[in-house]
Amino acid sequence: MNKIIKTERLLLRPLIKTDADDVFEWAGDPIVNKYMPYSLYQDIKQVESWIESLEDDENEFAFCLNDTGKVIGSGSITFDPERNTYELGYNINRAYWGNGYATEAAKAMIQWAYSNLDARDFCSSHANANVASGKVILKCGFQFDHYGQYSRFDGSETFDASFYVLHLD
Ligand SMILES: CC(C)(COP(=O)(O)OP(=O)(O)OC[C@H]1O[C@@H](n2cnc3c(N)ncnc32)[C@H](O)[C@@H]1OP(=O)(O)O)[C@@H](O)C(=O)NCCC(=O)NCCS
Repeated sequence: MNKIIKTERLLLRPLIKTDADDVFEWAGDPIVNKYMPYSLYQDIKQVESWIESLEDDENEFAFCLNDTGKVIGSGSITFDPERNTYELGYNINRAYWGNGYATEAAKAMIQWAYSNLDARDFCSSHANANVASGKVILKCGFQFDHYGQYSRFDGSETFDASFYVLHLD
């Protein structure tokens, strides 16, 4: 399956092990990690292991700047069979926040899943305190569905959160 997506400023492609240095810039940043369910990465080796563990059907994409090839973020659009929906997630290196990159990449992943996976139903969520992520979700066309909570995988923290859905015909 074609997993190369081109947008105005980005190239989205599968992550590869040699991206680990770039990925660690945000995966090891406590501010980027603040509302993420996964724990802060401690070193590049941990990131390499994560990249190697990715399954094809997770559809995790590196977001690369067209100009330089630098990987400035990543995101995924993964099918959840229990809810019969594709879940959208993303992170951006803090040095690149506020430039519209997350919105550009997220919209492109949704379009890719629509065309390549016949995806029609999508979901996403954000901690209520994570206002920027909420804006990305709304700019992608999602509708608010319900309030709830989610916890870090290690159980150390629970966040009040908002959950959204998007249906495309
Ligand atoms: C959420 C995140 C991906 C947004 O990335 P980004 O590339 O800066 O997003 P965009 O530039 O496409 O859009 C961000 C929007 O939020 C706004 N924003 C940014 N920081 C904000 C803040 N602290 N408070 C309120 N709004 C904020 C921006 O102005 C923009 O809105 P606008 O287009 O109306 O001006 C990035 O902040 C991030 O990686 N956060 C940490 C990881 C994370 O939270 N991932 C999502 C988990 S649900």
